Amino acid sequence: MHGSSTLTAPPLTAPSEGRCEDATIPVLVRWFGSWQISLRRRALSACELTRSYDRAAAGWSRTLDRLGVPDAYETMLRRVLSDDPWGGGRRRVLDCGVGTGAISCAFARVSPAPFALDAIDISPRMLERAGSRLRDYGVDATLRQGDVRTLPYDDGAFDLVMSAHVLEHLPDPSVALDEMVRVLKPGGLLVVCLTRRSPLGMYVHLKWRTHRVTPDQAETWLLGSGLENARCLPFDDRAVCRQLSLACVGRKPIEDSHKESAL
Ligand SMILES: C[S@@+](CC[C@H](N)C(=O)[O-])C[C@H]1O[C@@H](n2cnc3c(N)ncnc32)[C@H](O)[C@@H]1O
Repeated sequence: MHGSSTLTAPPLTAPSEGRCEDATIPVLVRWFGSWQISLRRRALSACELTRSYDRAAAGWSRTLDRLGVPDAYETMLRRVLSDDPWGGGRRRVLDCGVGTGAISCAFARVSPAPFALDAIDISPRMLERAGSRLRDYGVDATLRQGDVRTLPYDDGAFDLVMSAHVLEHLPDPSVALDEMVRVLKPGGLLVVCLTRRSPLGMYVHLKWRTHRVTPDQAETWLLGSGLENARCLPFDDRAVCRQLSLACVGRKPIEDSHKESAL
């Protein structure tokens, strides 16, 4: 890998303020006979998330280090690669919601082969931090400011798409998931980390208004976007990460025509 990281247009600006989106995220759903009691909360809009993550950027890596998140990402990615060995040749990887680059740096530590990284995030300040961190890691990265719900990449461009703790911010995560699957090559892998339904997950929800999911829900999300063999991986032995996060991986099916020509 070459130690370069580039930031491409559009320039680093916050999304236009506009009217706040009024889409909501479920907090609690209970059935009492034929009655359903449902509590929902307005999600943070794209502009609110940008502002909040811009403010959080300076201390983000330190917080992750304190919680042991980089090591947890590394252990989880080792498991992904041992289940699905990474063949030879240079591969293309996309990090959706790169933040300060934690999961991409973890992937650089475990990847047996060189790879070219594209990374996208809505927060300019997060991207600045990611750029310098990835350069320190010697990762060949191209960074863009943008929204994971409209990915500026071609269909079938990537061997691996990763997205850690981003989908839970979106009122309808399926829009972004469909995009991630679109840009995956047939046979490529999607790895997502999500906030878990747990007491610590509730703490995250109170601060960031995120979805909180069970392993079954996470698998259903991935299967709903057309991935196969969706499965949750044990996230980490450390209590904090295990209670906060879950990781789920799925593969984009190889279309029949490809299967036939490969025979
Ligand atoms: C919880 S942080 C996770 C960052 C990083 N993946 C990690 O694991 O440390 C969520 C990140 O997603 C970004 N984000 C939130 N909504 C986004 C969107 N719609 N499109 C792109 N990035 C988004 C935020 O700016 C932030 O950097």
